[in-house]
Amino acid sequence: MHHFNYKNNELHCEQVPVSRIADEVGTPVYIYSRETLERHFRIFQEPFLGVEHLICFSMKACSNLTVLRIFSDLGGGVDIVSGGELFRALKAGVEPSRIVYSGVGKKAAEIDEALAADILLFNVESEEELFLLNGRALAQGKRARIALRVNPDVDPLTHPYISTGLKKNKFGIDVERSLHLYREAAQMDGIEPVGVDCHIGSQLTELSPFLDAVSRLKELIRRLRGMDIQIRYLDIGGGLGIPYEDEQPPPPAEYGAAVLEAVSDLHVTLILEPGRVLVGNAGVLVTRVLFRKPGPNKEFVIVDAAMNDLIRPSLYKAHHAVWRVSRGNGGAALKRRIIADVVGPICETGDYLAQARNMDEVVPGDLLALMSAGAYGFSMSSNYNSRPRAAEVLVDGDRFYVIRKRETYEDLVRGEEIPAAVLRP
Ligand code: LLP
Repeated sequence: MHHFNYKNNELHCEQVPVSRIADEVGTPVYIYSRETLERHFRIFQEPFLGVEHLICFSMKACSNLTVLRIFSDLGGGVDIVSGGELFRALKAGVEPSRIVYSGVGKKAAEIDEALAADILLFNVESEEELFLLNGRALAQGKRARIALRVNPDVDPLTHPYISTGLKKNKFGIDVERSLHLYREAAQMDGIEPVGVDCHIGSQLTELSPFLDAVSRLKELIRRLRGMDIQIRYLDIGGGLGIPYEDEQPPPPAEYGAAVLEAVSDLHVTLILEPGRVLVGNAGVLVTRVLFRKPGPNKEFVIVDAAMNDLIRPSLYKAHHAVWRVSRGNGGAALKRRIIADVVGPICETGDYLAQARNMDEVVPGDLLALMSAGAYGFSMSSNYNSRPRAAEVLVDGDRFYVIRKRETYEDLVRGEEIPAAVLRP
């Protein structure tokens, strides 16, 4: 459930008309609902309230400082995957003791920064990373708490680009191999093995892959305890899907109950790394129609947002519902339906936000909302075609705030210079 609804045929985010934000801030603009963000966090957390747990928002999904702060004020931590994300999380005020660090390619400098901040846990993904981390920790006179990210080899039944827990994927360490590595880790002075971690993929719409993964991790934890390696944390990653079109992912309550049942006898602190499920339906991308262009079989609706603003349709063939911000059109509702590709100004055939979409007729100047764009929307945006990145706005009740300014042309060239030596006399 989210707080984007029509009142008198005008799309509102909470109490604010979306058109007012577009008029004042311009388009394209990402709009997030605070009420929805908080509601999603609470609903996700609810099943776990009776057990030791930590919800580490996977901030790659939406890394705006204000969004991070909202979750952190509710007691959440973050799952980071880079030094840049660590920087953002600390700047937003996230407690280091609630930060876990995942990712296959951590650099020494990034590891140093995370050690200096004294984060909760490194999710280590390879033997070489473990050795590097040990060395860096010793150099700082510290012991790094680690979990090994194991690859449970289960099929998450999702898009191949976002499935991560199969043997053929680059992520994690084979379960049998991990036993050997845990033994080595336990001997290292700079390493304290305290957890087991996995993340099997994203946009999962079934429970069974999660439960299969957890049961493999349970078995591993038993074996590790048998080796006198005391595992205190079980991190089961993120991955719970959301409805974009007609998917029916399990509701968070069902997911939580099933996970809890599976781990009840383990006596560990459970770490969860939800990304999409917390922010996906809490954000929309609003864009203005520039032109219409008829084609032989369908027409093109050319808008001012493009694949640089929202790459999910081009990259994953992802579906985002397209809603008209104003359904009334000044009282004279347009009745005609059209089949259209909603496309941006970028010079690529792959630059579309919706394809062959059966939608209400629109005219230049109309506003459209690309729904469920809160996760992996702005955070995957780029400056391709030298397009300044969109503004981000947070709605809170009947007020709204710009939480990231629209980029300027000057922002586009920041850091660039033409060296005098390349100038021809
Ligand atoms: N933990 C780890 C280690 C991850 O790699 C991810 C996502 C998550 C947690 C959060 O997964 P979520 O709860 O959001 O499913 N750009 C793609 C999604 C890539 C997901 C990458 N990893 C998309 O737009 O669909």
